[in-house]
Amino acid sequence: MRAPARLAFVAAGLVFLTACSTHGSPYMFDPKGPEAHRITSVWWLMFTLAAVVYVVVAGFIFVAAFRGRRSETGKPSRITDNGFIVVGGIAVPFVILMVLAWATVDATNHVRRPEKNPLKIEVVGKRWWWSVEYPDQHFTTANEVHVPVGRPIELGLDAADVIHSFWVPQIGGKVDLIPGQHNVWRFKVDEPGTYRGQCAEYCGVQHAHMAFLVVAESPAAFDTWALRRENPPSGPTGQLEATGQMVFMRSPCAGCHTIRGTAATGTIGPDLTDVGSRKMLGAATVPNDEGHLAGWILDAQTIKPGALMPPISIEPRDLQALLAYLRSLK
Ligand code: CUA
Repeated sequence: MRAPARLAFVAAGLVFLTACSTHGSPYMFDPKGPEAHRITSVWWLMFTLAAVVYVVVAGFIFVAAFRGRRSETGKPSRITDNGFIVVGGIAVPFVILMVLAWATVDATNHVRRPEKNPLKIEVVGKRWWWSVEYPDQHFTTANEVHVPVGRPIELGLDAADVIHSFWVPQIGGKVDLIPGQHNVWRFKVDEPGTYRGQCAEYCGVQHAHMAFLVVAESPAAFDTWALRRENPPSGPTGQLEATGQMVFMRSPCAGCHTIRGTAATGTIGPDLTDVGSRKMLGAATVPNDEGHLAGWILDAQTIKPGALMPPISIEPRDLQALLAYLRSLK
C-alpha cells in the first residue's frame, strides 16, 4: 500500500472507531462496573507494555540499519553481544511477562470471587437466542437481562446445543456457554443504562444475530420489573386481546412458546409472558414494534434465515388480534 493510501486507511479506521464509541454501541473502553474496570485496566497495561516494547525494538532496528556495528567503524562497542542478549532477550522479557501474568491472575481472581447475597440468574444459550431465568423469583424471560445497579450478580451459563459465549463489552465476560458444563460469571453494574451484549463464539449462521440487552436499573425499578413478572396479568386486557389469545392457542405458536397463566407451555422458542415489554425481537435483531412483530410472525426467515421460527400463515384480521394480544403482554 502506498503512503497516502495507508494514511487514508488508518484515518478511516479511526473515524469508524470513534463512530462506534459515540453511538451507544458496546465499547469496551467505557467500563460500567468494577469487573469491567479491572479487565480494561489489564488491557491498558498490556497495550502500554506492548507499545513500549514495539518502540524500543523498532528503535534498535533503526539504529542497526543506519549505523552498523561500532567495531567495524573502529570503536569497540561497550556492551558485548552476550550481555545484550541476556539482558534484552531474557531478563527484560521475563520481567515483562511476569508482570503481565501477575496482573492477569490477580484480575481473574478478583472477578471470580463470590460475593454475599448475589442475585442469581440462569442464562441458557440456544440457536440463536438467550433464555433468561430468575430462579428465586420463579420467572423466565428472553434476550433481556435486567439487573439492579450495585448488587452482585451471579450468572449461571449453560448451552442447549452448541458453544456460545456471553459478552457485554461494557460490563465484562466473555464466558463460554458449553453444553454439559455449568459456568458462572459474576459481575456488578455501577451505572443505570442499557448495555448491548453479543454472542462471542461462532455458533452457526445466525451467530451475528445472537445479541441481547443488559438493562441495569435502580433496585426499586428492578423490584417493580421482577414483581410484575412473578405475577403476570391473569387474562387478556380487552376483547381484541381475548380474540388474539384464542388465535395464539389454536395456531402453531402455543406448541413452541410459553405464556404463563395460559395453556401455552412450549419450550422450543422464547417464553413470551412479557414479550410486549421487550425492546427488541429476534435476540436484539429488530426493534419490537407492531410492524416488525407482524413481519416476524408471518415470516421470521426473511429477518433471521435459519432460525427455528417457521413462517405462520394467518388471516389479516386474526393477525391484528394476535398482535394486540402479544403487545399487551407486559
Ligand atoms: Cu451463539 Cu454465537
